[in-house]
Amino acid sequence: MSGKPEGNPAPGTLNFELFFSEKALQMKASEVRELLKLVETSDVISLAGGLPAPETFPVEIIKKITQEVLTHHADKALQYGTTLGFTPLRLTLAEWMEKRYGIPASDIEVMIVSGSQQALDLIGRVFINPGDIVVVEGPTYLAALNAFKYYDPEFLSIPMDHNGMRVDILEEKLKELKAEGKRVKFVYTVSTFQNPAGVTMSLERRKHLVELAKEYDFLIVEDNPYSELRYSGEPIPPIKHFDDEGRVFYLGTFSKIFAPGFRVGWIAAHPHFIRKLEIAKQAVDLCTNPFGQVIAWKYVADGYLDEHIPKVIEFYKPRRDAMLEALEEYMPEGVEWTRPDGGMFIWVTLPEGIDTKLMMEKAVAKGVAYVPGEAFFAHRDVKNTMRLNFTYVPEEKIREGVRRLAEVIEEEIKALGK
Ligand SMILES: Cc1ncc(COP(=O)(O)O)c(C=O)c1O
Repeated sequence: MSGKPEGNPAPGTLNFELFFSEKALQMKASEVRELLKLVETSDVISLAGGLPAPETFPVEIIKKITQEVLTHHADKALQYGTTLGFTPLRLTLAEWMEKRYGIPASDIEVMIVSGSQQALDLIGRVFINPGDIVVVEGPTYLAALNAFKYYDPEFLSIPMDHNGMRVDILEEKLKELKAEGKRVKFVYTVSTFQNPAGVTMSLERRKHLVELAKEYDFLIVEDNPYSELRYSGEPIPPIKHFDDEGRVFYLGTFSKIFAPGFRVGWIAAHPHFIRKLEIAKQAVDLCTNPFGQVIAWKYVADGYLDEHIPKVIEFYKPRRDAMLEALEEYMPEGVEWTRPDGGMFIWVTLPEGIDTKLMMEKAVAKGVAYVPGEAFFAHRDVKNTMRLNFTYVPEEKIREGVRRLAEVIEEEIKALGK
């Protein structure tokens, strides 16, 4: 015992706010998160989460690999590693991406990161000056907005439809910006089975985006945690596949195809850009957990990953189908939703005038939760949308959750007088 008093000092003793940096003072926890905390402890069916189902974690494989790693590679796995990452894993991933996505291993350098979330922060650090224009999808991945926001960019939000980002609208905006003497620093896209909207950028738009990047001289950050989770339709090559100049950063992760607890992801980009990202990472965590990296290496190199992906798909597909069927069956007229070929999320749009954040309390009272869509928009200017997750909850609960949700929505629509 240190002899220090336990717990926080009595209120009034310390002015906590006085110590925070200006940046920290701007950080705010979302109001919705507070509401969702309640949900975790009650019998509310939560379609709000973003977690993979634990049933998909390949526990037996992990036990086997861990034994092997501790027997043969303990010196590497338990030691500090290089900032760039465990070389056999980096090379294995480069090969895997060449085989799987047609991205030539010779064109890229792979750096291992502590989850692709870290890649987003590093990209912010290395590329965003205050006021730089960063293009995002509307809606986009909330934690990317938060990661970039720290570096004070100006967000330009481009709407989406069922084929992903409206690249034609982006082109118009780029022309306008050029006329004003401004340019975009990078475009951030979750190109396949987007979080939160579930949609996939079409092949034509991918090619068009790369052409625009060349014409208007910007970079592209392609965040791709979900493309391996495909339940229907034909695979589309990543945007990185069409990059012949080194403008595209490809962000990959083991979180959805192995287990998020390892916190292992990667960035594949031009070696010149990787050098700078490596220096930035050094100051953040020296290296990504080497134990997790060595396990991830065996998981890919020994073929377990390729064997495991179809099992995850088999597990999630019925859940995706159950949600789509339930939406079809229960949702009242005027409600629209996306029909994802993969990933973890469906995006629902309600009639104008309904604020899903305000509706949340009523939904929780009825026993169902979702994530209101507002926070996924850089300018928080869309109120009538929500994100539903279909991977975490079993089929029968999905059906019941959607049924309850439809009831709440029906009441809201009636209240609108529609
Ligand atoms: C689009 C997107 N990017 C990045 C991440 C973060 O992934 P990781 O676990 O690799 O940090 C997520 C996680 O949900 C995500 O949806």
